[in-house]
Amino acid sequence: MKILITGVAGFIGHSIAADLLSKKHYVYGLDNLDNYYSIKIKKKRLNNLNKYNKFFFKKIDLNNKKNLENYFKRKKFDLVVHLAAQAGVRYSFENPEKYINSNFFGFLNLVLCSRDNNVKKIIYASSSSIYGDSKKLPVSEKDKLSTKNIYAVTKKLNEDTAELYSKLTNIKFVGLRFFTIFGEWGRPDMLIFKVFKSHFTNKKIYINNYGHHYRDFTYIGDVTKIIKKLIFKKLSKHDIFNICSNNPININELIKNFSKNYKLNKQFVKLHKADVINTHGNNNKIKKQLNLNSFTNFYKAFYKTFEWYKKNKIYKI
Ligand SMILES: NC(=O)c1ccc[n+]([C@@H]2O[C@H](COP(=O)([O-])OP(=O)(O)OC[C@H]3O[C@@H](n4cnc5c(N)ncnc54)[C@H](O)[C@@H]3O)[C@@H](O)[C@H]2O)c1
Repeated sequence: MKILITGVAGFIGHSIAADLLSKKHYVYGLDNLDNYYSIKIKKKRLNNLNKYNKFFFKKIDLNNKKNLENYFKRKKFDLVVHLAAQAGVRYSFENPEKYINSNFFGFLNLVLCSRDNNVKKIIYASSSSIYGDSKKLPVSEKDKLSTKNIYAVTKKLNEDTAELYSKLTNIKFVGLRFFTIFGEWGRPDMLIFKVFKSHFTNKKIYINNYGHHYRDFTYIGDVTKIIKKLIFKKLSKHDIFNICSNNPININELIKNFSKNYKLNKQFVKLHKADVINTHGNNNKIKKQLNLNSFTNFYKAFYKTFEWYKKNKIYKI
């Protein structure tokens, strides 16, 4: 099977690629290596993948339709795991256009190229942020959506676009609503890596909403396991799954736990208007679909990630 991973230099894309390559699959990957966060980290991830001779990288921007079309025409992929996007909620207030371009038009270009080149399945990243501040927790896939920022709007548009093209074409779509993924090779703009960096540099870390948020943190090892199973699974025309551990962690508790043994220069600040206050997903649907038992224990994965972080200088710059 010929698999393309978009956003392969990113956190989740790199982790899935590395997992598939270690099991001897061929992996094609594209990324535009944008500078939303350190390009050095993205290049380091690519170096890691380049150790495998079954990995083929192409620097392409999803908004360059001509390049994308030529690439698809030449390679004839069977399946696409689509993870390229402008991520991050806060940044969407400063740069809304970037989200519309990469996440909406980029996704549309990818779907049209897939349609024209007989791609059979697209597994794409959605986000828990499309639930907004849901009154009913944990949220299930059929619950009402309420977008609070342009990032969430683009993810919702992706789901609508997938639904439409699942009817207009032969492509099968699988949408994954990720809930705060963390782990080795993670994103430096997200809380857990900011905590680690702050410990090592003594740079002040600002804890929003005075730490009252809850986040349904989900370990990357669980995510790669799920995506690998979905790649090889027969599914319906368009299915959407919550990808979460169903175990919300209070940020104050997390900070207290870490501060017991490690110094942290922290300051508690008020709520940011872009933020969803609590995320908590019901994961029964994905568990049932893939026969999964349990998700990795949060603190075990958190400290395992910390051990990994200690050895990776590039994140501390
Ligand atoms: N990490 C999480 O907790 C989380 C939560 C919810 C949803 N998601 C979604 O999962 C996906 C992967 O997230 P991630 O955490 O790995 O993010 P990431 O930023 O590490 O990876 C995304 C990659 O896409 C690339 N990219 C951005 N715009 C592009 C474009 N126009 N053309 C080509 N490449 C482009 C970037 O260079 C980056 O390497 C994203 O769609 C994100 O919105 C992630």
